Amino acid sequence: MQPRNLLTFFSAVALASASPLRRRCDGHNETITPPTTPAPPPAAVPTLPSTGSGTQLESPGAATLKHILVGHGIQNYTCAADGTTAASFGALAVVWDITALYPGTGAADALSPEEWDGLTSKVLRTTPLPLNLAAGAGNGGADAAAPFPAPANLTVEGVAAPLPFLGHHFFDAANTPTFALAGGAELFKGKRDAGIPAPADADAGADPATGAVDWLRLSDKAGASVGVSLVYRVLTAGGNPEPCAAAGQPQSVPYTAQYWIYGN
Ligand SMILES: *[C@@H]1O[C@H](CO)[C@@H](O)[C@H](O)[C@H]1NC(C)=O
Ligand SMILES: *[C@@H]1O[C@H](CO)[C@@H](O)[C@H](O)[C@H]1NC(C)=O
Ligand SMILES: *[C@@H]1O[C@H](CO)[C@@H](O)[C@H](O)[C@H]1NC(C)=O
Repeated sequence: MQPRNLLTFFSAVALASASPLRRRCDGHNETITPPTTPAPPPAAVPTLPSTGSGTQLESPGAATLKHILVGHGIQNYTCAADGTTAASFGALAVVWDITALYPGTGAADALSPEEWDGLTSKVLRTTPLPLNLAAGAGNGGADAAAPFPAPANLTVEGVAAPLPFLGHHFFDAANTPTFALAGGAELFKGKRDAGIPAPADADAGADPATGAVDWLRLSDKAGASVGVSLVYRVLTAGGNPEPCAAAGQPQSVPYTAQYWIYGN
């Protein structure tokens, strides 16, 4: 071969070996698939918790999950008479965003499933009640004029970064459950669609140990909400009332819950 022909020959060999087609002895070509690195496991998509048995809350359908929050505050009750069951009379809570802690996402801050399920109990038992209490109140009631201290992120033992403050949960003058979130960018005025009992192994609360409040589904009341269409209260800890001891007896019972906030 002349040098020039040799060069042509080697170029042809190089092209042939780069081709994904390989000639088999039987005259058929087969495609050689180059090796690839295995794909990482798919990141977990947050799924609304279940109580594990019995009737469950209706799913959020096509609504989009916007935040998962932990709320800490009080459930407030009033008593009609000695021996009756206290009636719900609003609630007050501060809420922090825990979306980044959801297990299995691969995020640096993600908790284990056990830590996630136990987070409301841990917040109830290891962080201070984030409310201004009424002066001289013996019942744990909040200061009516200024119940909330200045916004602050929440440090929780075993959680790497402080939880970002997202807003407040309260009942408005018309006794409508309300969430004011994200510096006023999101507002929810809800009505109760359904409630189911918390699981039997839920944290019943520390003081008093009266049981965990129901899990709830709330939807927008009369189009008054902004940027939020559905709120679920799940993984509750504490908050149920004590038996009434007297007519007019107020009760304010500490509780925590996860709130799952959806928009359209
Ligand atoms: C195999 O590939 C070679 C080179 O691309 C081609 O010339 C030949 O016809 C192919 N044979 C078959 C059976 O497809
Ligand atoms: C909470 O932390 C974030 C950073 O994660 C910060 O931007 C924000 O100002 C903090 N909020 C408060 C109320 O301290
Ligand atoms: C709590 O309930 C009592 C009645 O038991 C009521 O007087 C008080 O205003 C309520 N406080 C809040 C913050 O809802």
